[in-house]
Amino acid sequence: MSIVSSLSPRALAAPESGIVELVNYARGREGLLPLWVGEGDLPTPEFISRAAMDALAAGETFYTWQRGIPELRQALSDYYNRHFEIRLPVEHFYVTGSGMQAIQIAVQALTSPGDELVYLSPSWPNIAAALEIAGARSLSVELQFEGGKWAVDLGRIETAITPKTKGIFINTPSNPTGWTATKQDLGDILALARKHDLWILADEIYARYYFAGGRAPSFLDVMDEGDKIIFVNSFSKNWSMTGWRVGWIVAPPEMGQVLENLIQYSTSGVAQFMQKGAVAALDQGDDFVAANIAKAARSRDILCDALIATNRVETLKPDGAIYAFLKIDGVADSRKAALDIVDKTGVGLAPGTAFGPGGELFLRACFLRDPTQVAVAAERLCNYILKL
Ligand SMILES: Cc1ncc(COP(=O)(O)O)c(C=O)c1O
Repeated sequence: MSIVSSLSPRALAAPESGIVELVNYARGREGLLPLWVGEGDLPTPEFISRAAMDALAAGETFYTWQRGIPELRQALSDYYNRHFEIRLPVEHFYVTGSGMQAIQIAVQALTSPGDELVYLSPSWPNIAAALEIAGARSLSVELQFEGGKWAVDLGRIETAITPKTKGIFINTPSNPTGWTATKQDLGDILALARKHDLWILADEIYARYYFAGGRAPSFLDVMDEGDKIIFVNSFSKNWSMTGWRVGWIVAPPEMGQVLENLIQYSTSGVAQFMQKGAVAALDQGDDFVAANIAKAARSRDILCDALIATNRVETLKPDGAIYAFLKIDGVADSRKAALDIVDKTGVGLAPGTAFGPGGELFLRACFLRDPTQVAVAAERLCNYILKL
């Protein structure tokens, strides 16, 4: 008998990420334009790296605060004051080893084995996988897709709620669809959660990538003190820090000891010198983030305009996040298509099969890149599509 078969069934059941599969297939190919994963093309800006290197050189290499260093929790509080017009004391903030770990910790805090969490699909695959690994059940409710636009149907969420439902996971703006909840949507979802006494797990990591100007509507705009909402967030996308693995949680202060314990028994805290980099990102990074958003907006227009002009792609420009989610005429198997596209055009896309129910016929392209490069990718993709 293989030693693997005696591993935990939950670990064995964890699926291979359909995005990573594609990346592993064609990583490093010459001339590749990698639009498959959700990251930009710039390395972390120097002022952020410098702050981390200075802290490292100064010997900040010891065990640190589980909840995050006080300067970083303060910088997060100031950031929310600047960009979300809300004053939240530092006790609301917890530093985690990535947005992914923030999700894991929130799931551990909320669910017991057998509990259910409803989420909207198509969705970033790690959410359902994190739930299942924790022994909880993920129940998908499909967003509606019509005329290139995605929308939420509240009735469908309510129908999915059972006595075992512990909460609703809402990622807005959404990866991969770009669906962005309106303030009305958020108010309605919150009312539903209150009615059924459910938690909301709010993943607003793309809140700043909102192309109508300002930031996307947030549960912070509609909630009251005492509402059961945990926010997960990340330094990855705004500040070009995907490789750092630093994120944060915003949660009711009463959860402080529980969150501290869960952090202690996983990473025991994020390296202090990296937290110093994160402080610099928040305190000095507003111009960098604004430039990143402007770049994403230009590249979104270039990519979507070109693809829509083929008349063979059903999509609209997304309201938020950093992805075009494309339904291409003639594509019935998006995994096969993604492999063929990278072979024939050198453009790396993520197959919609990776994003769960409702995503199967789509391909995802991340446009947080230099507009000139995105224009080249768009041209290659259009040539491919017009030959299908
Ligand atoms: C919706 C969503 N949530 C969370 C994350 C986690 O980001 P990270 O683990 O890089 O902080 C991602 C990354 O792609 C994402 O798309």
